[in-house]
Amino acid sequence: MSTPEPTPSIYSRLSETPVGDQEITLRPPDFNEFHGQEKVKERLMLMVAAAKQRGDVLDHVLLSGPPGLGKTTLAYIVAHAVGRNLYIASGPQIEKARDLAGLLTRLEEGDVLFIDEIHRLNPAVEEYLYPAMEDFRLDIMIDQGPAARSVNMRLKPFTLIGATTRSGMLTGPLRSRFGIANRLDYYTTDELCHILARSAGLLNIKITPEGAEAIARRSRGTPRVANALLRWVRDYAQVRSDGDIIAEVAEKALEMIDIDADGLDEMDKRILEAMIYKFDGGPVGLSSLAVALGEDASTLEDVHEPFLIMQGYLKRTPRGREAMPAAYAKLGIAMVRGEQDHLLL
Ligand SMILES: Nc1ncnc2c1ncn2[C@@H]1O[C@H](COP(=O)(O)OP(=O)(O)O)[C@@H](O)[C@H]1O
Ligand SMILES: [Mg+2]
Repeated sequence: MSTPEPTPSIYSRLSETPVGDQEITLRPPDFNEFHGQEKVKERLMLMVAAAKQRGDVLDHVLLSGPPGLGKTTLAYIVAHAVGRNLYIASGPQIEKARDLAGLLTRLEEGDVLFIDEIHRLNPAVEEYLYPAMEDFRLDIMIDQGPAARSVNMRLKPFTLIGATTRSGMLTGPLRSRFGIANRLDYYTTDELCHILARSAGLLNIKITPEGAEAIARRSRGTPRVANALLRWVRDYAQVRSDGDIIAEVAEKALEMIDIDADGLDEMDKRILEAMIYKFDGGPVGLSSLAVALGEDASTLEDVHEPFLIMQGYLKRTPRGREAMPAAYAKLGIAMVRGEQDHLLL
C-alpha cells in the first residue's frame, strides 16, 4: 500500500471549529512531540505500526476524557502517522443519515474520520454507523411512503476515531464497535511543564523553569488551559515587566485573572460556594446547581466537575454532589454540616 503525503482536509460544513492558526501551531504534529498520556500513546503507536506492517486499515479508535487533554490532537497525529486524509465532524452536527452518508462516501481507503462528541450523535444516525464501522456498508432508506426503498452502498475501509467527554453516555452497541477504549487523564505538573516549554519555544517566549512550573500548577492538569494561561502571562510580562516569564511574574499575572494557587478559577469557587451556602454542602442535583449558578449543566459536568472531583473538593453520590472537607477548607469555613448530622443522631 503506497502512502501518499497526508493532506489533512476538513469537511467544511460539518467541521466543528475552523482550525485556527495558533491552535495548529501549538498542536504537536506527531507522537514524539506529544508529551504525557504514555499508555494511550504507546497503544496507538503500536496499532499504527501493526496496521502499516500488514498494509491494513487502522482499527477504529475511541478517545475519552475531559476537554482540552488532547483528543483532537491525537486524531490529527494518528491520521498523520497512517499518512491518510483526516475528516473532522462533530456528533450533534450530523443530523440526518444523509449527512453521515455524505461524510462516509467521500472517504478513500484508509482515510480517518474523526467524530467529536460522538456520544451526542442522533440515535437514528448512530444506527447507520454500526454497519458502516463493522462491514463498511451503508443501508440508506430513500424517499418515503410507497416509493421508499433501501439503497445499499459499499464503503471503502476507513478508520473512525470517536472522541467523547462522557464515555458513560456512549451506547453499548457503539462502544462495542470500537476496539479498545483509550481514556485520557489529567496531566502531571511535570508533563505540563514540558508542554509549556515547547509552546513557549514556538511562541518565542522566554520562560524560566520556575515560571513554567508556576503556570503548570494552576493549569488544572489540562494542556489547553496551560497554553491559554501562557499567552495571558506573556501579555502581562510584556507590559508589566521585561517580557521574561519568571515565577513571580506568572503568579501575579494569574492572580490578576482570579486563578488561585491551586488552579481554581472564579467558576470553580462559585460552585463550591453555592454548594456550601445554598445547599448546605449537598447532596445536590446537577440541574439545581446549574440553575443556582446560571450556568449550563453540561459545562459544569464536563469542564468543572471532573477537576473538582479529582482534587477532592466534591464527590458524586447517587443522591447528588456533595462538598468534601477540602471545599470548606478552600473557602476558609468550618465544616458544620457533619456536626449537625451528628447532633441529629
Ligand atoms: N500532550 C500534549 N502535548 C502538547 N500539547 C498538547 C497535548 N495535548 C493537548 N495539547 C494542546 O492542548 C490543546 C487542546 O488539545 P485538544 O486536542 O484540542 O483537546 P481535546 O480535543 O481533548 O479537547 C491543543 O491545541 C494542543 O496545543
Ligand atoms: Mg477536541
